[in-house]
Amino acid sequence: MDTRPPQDSKRFPRFLLDGEVVEARDATATTTLLQYLRGPLGRCGTKEGCAEGDCGACTVVVGEARDGGMRYRAVNSCIRFVPTLDGKEVVTVESLRAPDGTLHPVQQAMVEAHASQCGFCTPGFVMSLFALYLDAAEPARAGVLDALAGNLCRCTGYRPIIDAGLRMRGYPEPDRWSRADAQSPARRNALLEIQRKETLQVKGFAAPRTLNELADAYAAQPESLILAGATDIGLWVTKQLRELPPIR
Ligand code: FES
Ligand code: FES
Repeated sequence: MDTRPPQDSKRFPRFLLDGEVVEARDATATTTLLQYLRGPLGRCGTKEGCAEGDCGACTVVVGEARDGGMRYRAVNSCIRFVPTLDGKEVVTVESLRAPDGTLHPVQQAMVEAHASQCGFCTPGFVMSLFALYLDAAEPARAGVLDALAGNLCRCTGYRPIIDAGLRMRGYPEPDRWSRADAQSPARRNALLEIQRKETLQVKGFAAPRTLNELADAYAAQPESLILAGATDIGLWVTKQLRELPPIR
């Protein structure tokens, strides 16, 4: 965690990680979440395979306050720029195990289904299944297949991993990261506390808060890129090593 005293908070993206606010002062406009996790945050559980959003080894879960509750989705951290996580919650594979060492039901199911061999893909599969765990009370096979559609495994094979997805709901609910815990007012309130009232302005990146702000920013710099999911633009950085114009 960055414990340096606050400076100009408009210039630093901030997100929640395991209940702590991370102020990402070392992140540029195009630093990926994967780089930030494995570098400054020292969280090496999240793996890099392809660095282009294809293999799922880098999967983490991102939460946001939506419709009076929390919504959690699996994302590829290798093509997700850190400034786009401002005001969100990040959950990594390190977040799941309880402080006393008890595995989360998703992890326990992976162990008992013998769903890992070399293990390189495993954190990504765990996080994709974890997103499903938070989303569906009793996932059906089709739901498990859908949740795993973005993850590749080259040595275990998929049958045991799918089995893990089908059996993960058969374990007792954990205290931390049950569906109820994920939707608790405490989690939502912690996230609401870091929502900003001003525009985030990282060098080369701004997150307009209204359509008018976006229109003004675009008129001032018509060469700007409008970023949505970064599934293309992320690869311009990770694969083509391009310098990008300002991102909005
Ligand atoms: Fe392959 Fe991110 S490293 S999808
Ligand atoms: Fe080796 Fe999946 S366990 S790639």
